[in-house]
Amino acid sequence: MYKAKAYSVASATSPFGATRIARRDPMAHDVQIEILFCGICHSDVHQARNEWSGMPTVYPCVPGHEIVGRVAKVGSAVTRFRQGDLVGVGCMVDSDGTCPECQAGLEQFCPNATFTYNSPDEHLGGVTHGGYSDSVVVDERSVLRVPSNLDLAGVAPLLCAGITTYSPMRRQGVTKGKKVGVVGLGGLGHMGVKFARALGAHVVVFTTSPGKKEDALRLGAHEVVVSRNAAEMRKHAGSLDFVLDAVSAEHDVNAYLQLLRRDGNLTLVGAPDKPHAISAFGLIFGNKSLSGSLIGGIRQTQEMLDFCGERGITADVEVIPIQKVNEAYERLLRQDVKYRFSIDMGSLKSE
Ligand SMILES: NC(=O)c1ccc[n+]([C@@H]2O[C@H](COP(=O)([O-])OP(=O)(O)OC[C@H]3O[C@@H](n4cnc5c(N)ncnc54)[C@H](OP(=O)(O)O)[C@@H]3O)[C@@H](O)[C@H]2O)c1
Ligand SMILES: [Zn+2]
Ligand SMILES: [Zn+2]
Repeated sequence: MYKAKAYSVASATSPFGATRIARRDPMAHDVQIEILFCGICHSDVHQARNEWSGMPTVYPCVPGHEIVGRVAKVGSAVTRFRQGDLVGVGCMVDSDGTCPECQAGLEQFCPNATFTYNSPDEHLGGVTHGGYSDSVVVDERSVLRVPSNLDLAGVAPLLCAGITTYSPMRRQGVTKGKKVGVVGLGGLGHMGVKFARALGAHVVVFTTSPGKKEDALRLGAHEVVVSRNAAEMRKHAGSLDFVLDAVSAEHDVNAYLQLLRRDGNLTLVGAPDKPHAISAFGLIFGNKSLSGSLIGGIRQTQEMLDFCGERGITADVEVIPIQKVNEAYERLLRQDVKYRFSIDMGSLKSE
């Protein structure tokens, strides 16, 4: 066991502060990673503030599951990674590797998966601690290769925001000739726009923030709709093949079901705690479907990273020192981020 530097919260209402946490010494199949950047996902905010009734937070909590770093050490049986390799870690740090979900490459649904934070830690007891830290130890099966041509601060958010938007688009066959809506231009939404555009679709962004219109176009949208404007919304009625809903708060999903064409699909990735009220008629008329999607498996996460490497895709980030994490959370809640905070972990050295 060794001590790593980290930032944690002590309760749902406490600010983040510097701390030291225990990490296990790498075992045979483990990779020890020096963390260079970690993105701030809205899920970190939900969890740090105990906003999900189904997943109560265990304190102290160290969030962070958009991790990019360099391999510092490998266990004796590790074959795929070497010291110095650039690697990523997303929402999972372990899975059993043997169950039907793992066999299908869907480790996020493994009944024995260990998530990167707030998940029972079978090695050290307590819960796992995430990437707001200078070091982490991860089973090699959950470690991703990072393409060498990409900006690392902008790669970190791919490990959650990237795969969470890429995966449902691949599942729903987003491609040239399809019209795709992206609802909520935040960390997830802006990656959704980039992927939908890269996959060849006609992309329409739906935002509550008129000030994001120009950015949406620059990020790859063909059209931008301010969703509070009913006339603008009506123009797209019955026309979208697929809608990705990446909104972090309560909102009216039915308004988007009306925009789907026959057999269209709306996939929810945004995760507000309060249940949505869904109109049965909104789905029945037009044989429409409503789905959810949870991150993505390891194989597909690697595919997404390689896709980003080939296309030069990264997140648009504002790089901050860890000392600004409290301010970043407040700004995230005010939708004042373009479009992901990425924490430079070099800033932990002074703690
Ligand atoms: N399913 C998964 O596997 C998965 C993975 C990661 C995250 N998530 C969840 O996805 C959600 C989004 O995460 P994120 O990191 O992208 O968050 P984010 O950066 O805060 O973006 C959320 C966006 O939602 C829109 N929004 C916020 N409040 C709203 C409101 N009251 N009404 C309508 N729109 C509102 C805003 O976009 P506009 O300004 O454009 O309106 C905002 O930028 C979170 O709930 C997170 O927990 C799910
Ligand atoms: Zn996330
Ligand atoms: Zn499994």
